[in-house]
Amino acid sequence: MSPGDSVLGAFEGVVGADHVLTDSDIVAGYVRDWTGRWTGDAFAVVRPGTAEEVQAVVGICAESRVPLVPQGGNTGLVGGSIPHRGEVVLSLRRLNRLGPVDATTKEVTVGAGVTIGALRSHAGEAGLEYGVDLASRDTATVGGTIATNAGGVNVVANGDTRRQVLGLEAVLADGSLVSTLGGMVKESTGPDPLPLMVGSEGTLGIITAARVRLLPPAGTERMVVMLGVDNLEAGLSFLGPGIRALEFFDTRCLAAVIELRGLSRPFDAEFPFYVLIETTVMPEIPDSVSAVVEPRLWAYREAITETISQLGVPVKLDVAVPLDRIDDFAQGVAGLGLEGQVFLFGHLAEGNFHVNVVGNPHPEGVVDRVLEVVVGMGGVIASEHGIGVAKAAWWRRSADPATLSMGRRVKEALDPKHILNPEVIWGG
Ligand code: FAD
Ligand code: MLT
Ligand code: ZN
Repeated sequence: MSPGDSVLGAFEGVVGADHVLTDSDIVAGYVRDWTGRWTGDAFAVVRPGTAEEVQAVVGICAESRVPLVPQGGNTGLVGGSIPHRGEVVLSLRRLNRLGPVDATTKEVTVGAGVTIGALRSHAGEAGLEYGVDLASRDTATVGGTIATNAGGVNVVANGDTRRQVLGLEAVLADGSLVSTLGGMVKESTGPDPLPLMVGSEGTLGIITAARVRLLPPAGTERMVVMLGVDNLEAGLSFLGPGIRALEFFDTRCLAAVIELRGLSRPFDAEFPFYVLIETTVMPEIPDSVSAVVEPRLWAYREAITETISQLGVPVKLDVAVPLDRIDDFAQGVAGLGLEGQVFLFGHLAEGNFHVNVVGNPHPEGVVDRVLEVVVGMGGVIASEHGIGVAKAAWWRRSADPATLSMGRRVKEALDPKHILNPEVIWGG
């Protein structure tokens, strides 16, 4: 029996043979990222069903020094959720328990493998709402969104994932379990594992459950408005009371979703940018601005990611620039004259741009040239998708030395054997 067989046997002893996958056809969906830009190979896919099973599997990995990649819905866009060098994929999707909603505190405890869609439905049944929403809602998980500090379309109203999480349970690299799921409204003990885990992309621990806040639904009626604008600043000027979402996309995105999704043209005239607003208070729209009001307008914005992928494997960059530089940034990207089809869309209220390029033969060149513009404008190289492997080199190049040093020391202390997602943030 090879050392590999004995490790597989140990995994099977913990989760059962049905939940240790090695058949390449079955494993295929776990080793290719959503965009198709990264594919790896896995030692095995292991699917624990409880936090105790996660502890035992991590203990085996630590003992045998077999690295692992935590995986939720595998909708991540920076190559961080798949193995790159034969790691174990630790799929957390079976941790899908929905706890009862506490009507007094408006909190709920859920498993890391619960999808955002399921959490939103569960909250809705209690007359409440979960504060994060994104187009990948039916696949992206609570654990994955915490690990990436996902943003989505409602950040302008509710803040990002960090703002929703009140406590969590996580397995550390030595197999120990930390938990802050107590549900106390106020607590000032510390150091607290929660802020360490948010945005750590599976490099510091494995989130197995979270306690999140739920919100009363905002307003009775939500209007969805699409505006055609000549520049992004004009779109930003509609930020005001009652805004739930303030999104944008450029004329290329609109053309692609019209052509490939069979959607009708929202306006006769064409504009450089389109702004999508969801609001409970109708903003004042001057007669000179073209506008349509219709709930189904979300289809144009939500179809963009899949539509771009239909055109080819995109280089996807998720960045943010200061709000007073948004038009400078759009012009800066246009000025690069990148080969291929360039699409701009994103979350306007946060200056969060998704720059997607299809058909460019030099992906790394695209990354370098766009991120140079971002850094030159005082922006951030990852606004909501994380660093993953896509931006690991850039992160280490652009972050200040003290921040990098702190991050390395935390990683060394919590994962001295480098078994947790070793290619992400610090790898390569
Ligand atoms: P995965 O892709 O499985 O993993 C992502 C990262 O988290 C990896 O590094 C992984 O190792 C780690 N991880 C996963 N689960 C755990 C866990 N339990 N414990 C520790 N680490 C873990 N993102 C946004 O922010 N805003 C958007 O609007 C948005 N829209 C999207 C739309 C589409 C159509 C798609 C395909 C993606 C979109 N995303 C968006 C990106 C993606 O959905 C998010 O990054 C999401 O947070 C990933 O969740 P996941 O469960 O799929 O995680
Ligand atoms: C979005 O805002 O649509 C997402 O973050 C997905 C993407 O960047 O493609
Ligand atoms: Zn986004």
